[in-house]
Amino acid sequence: MALSNDVHVHCTGKMQRSLPLLQWLSLFSLVVLFFLRTCHGDVGTAAHYSPPYLPTTCYGSDTSEFPSSNLFAVAGDAIWDNGAACGRQYLVRCISASVRYACAQNQTIQLKIVDYINGIPSPSSASNTTMVLSSTAFGAIANTTTNAPAINIEFQQV
Ligand SMILES: *[C@@H]1O[C@H](CO)[C@@H](O)[C@H](O)[C@H]1NC(C)=O
Ligand SMILES: *[C@@H]1O[C@H](CO)[C@@H](O)[C@H](O)[C@H]1NC(C)=O
Ligand SMILES: *[C@@H]1O[C@H](CO)[C@@H](O)[C@H](O)[C@H]1NC(C)=O
Repeated sequence: MALSNDVHVHCTGKMQRSLPLLQWLSLFSLVVLFFLRTCHGDVGTAAHYSPPYLPTTCYGSDTSEFPSSNLFAVAGDAIWDNGAACGRQYLVRCISASVRYACAQNQTIQLKIVDYINGIPSPSSASNTTMVLSSTAFGAIANTTTNAPAINIEFQQV
């Protein structure tokens, strides 16, 4: 305790003497930018697909990698990362769509990537999206009665 207090006092005292206002401002902007970047994810698009979900590029016919919640998705080219995307988890929410009322309000889900968009076993509702969501995942963040083929999403890796 005493040691860390000493170090803290020493550091802040030193910085206050040596950093002029402009440097403080740029440091502050960097911190704000970092904060914005880590708190708000990337923006992309999501379509959906239905069973059959097997086989997958990531796991073949192994069903044990599918989350029991059925909240999973296929990676589009933007996030596939040469296969490193397999098993990654994302927080995803609907932010807008070309169809009115297509977003479910205030719904964020956590899903797992299990497949690659090229060669998925059943057709996607739209082509070339950032992700293709399982019907369960899509139904959790979108209003499916609107029949919107795709939605705009905010997503963030966890
Ligand atoms: C969504 O969240 C906002 C802010 O927390 C709240 O004001 C609004 O009532 C919520 N909407 C629904 C449909 O839950
Ligand atoms: C897929 O979408 C990206 C980004 O929107 C675009 O740059 C690319 O040309 C599209 N590819 C195809 C085959 O439509
Ligand atoms: C879902 O979409 C239908 C058809 O557009 C609309 O009537 C309904 O109000 C929407 N539900 C919500 C919760 O937005």
